[in-house]
Amino acid sequence: MTDSDPRFALAVALAREGGALAARMYADLGRITAKTAIDFCTAADLAVESHIRTRVTATFADAMIGEEGGGSADTDHVWVVDPIDGTAGYIHGTTRWCVSIAVMRAGIVECGAIYAPRDDRLFTARRGGGAFLNGRPIGVSHLGHGAAPIVELGWSARRPLSAYCDLLHRLTAAEIEFRRHGSGALGLAEVACGLNDGYAELHINAWDALAGILLVEEAGGRCNDFLADNGLTQGNRLVAATPEIYDRLYADVRACA
Ligand code: IPD
Repeated sequence: MTDSDPRFALAVALAREGGALAARMYADLGRITAKTAIDFCTAADLAVESHIRTRVTATFADAMIGEEGGGSADTDHVWVVDPIDGTAGYIHGTTRWCVSIAVMRAGIVECGAIYAPRDDRLFTARRGGGAFLNGRPIGVSHLGHGAAPIVELGWSARRPLSAYCDLLHRLTAAEIEFRRHGSGALGLAEVACGLNDGYAELHINAWDALAGILLVEEAGGRCNDFLADNGLTQGNRLVAATPEIYDRLYADVRACA
């Protein structure tokens, strides 16, 4: 897939368009549906996903799996889309939310685009083509900052709270700092550009994770095989990190799962 690949170009355009639409819709949030106590859907989630689905299916005979509308993976190319990742932060008026789009071919993620409109950050990656933030190449930290590693820990009620607390305990005891900002896609993008040294979550869905995983890999980081064991449809555990801490982070996550 090259820079001029039409699917990559459309993914980038739709990440921007979706982000702009959600930002406009924030002025009138409308009805908020609680899927769980900490998992929400707004009118903007639905409108952005619908916009992306309409544009993708009008342009290509490709399947799409979206967080809100679901879908199947029954074509060679499959789009995997989170219209707003970090919906709770979106509702609260933070900058920590984004549109995340991954395009797969034959079961492999070929390109991804993550756009955070509030601070105008566009992360893009093509397999074998590197990772970029607003057009500039990015790379993982390699701990070059010389400080204790920072790892973002994602959380959802899909795994027991005790397992999350166990992981938090292990990292803190190992003098690894933790953060949680509420968008898995942005957490991964920030590993790719060295603002975090790792991202871990005991269970996350494919629409939150796939574009960010490609970013981390293309930026020189390591990730577990998220798509193993039906990760595309069922979600999976996720560990993504600068190579220097990947093995120990993975071991801690495995121990808590
Ligand atoms: C959630 C965020 C969060 C992660 C959860 C996701 P949503 O996605 O990515 O950071 O920890 O696992 O469900 O609901 O904001 O799209």
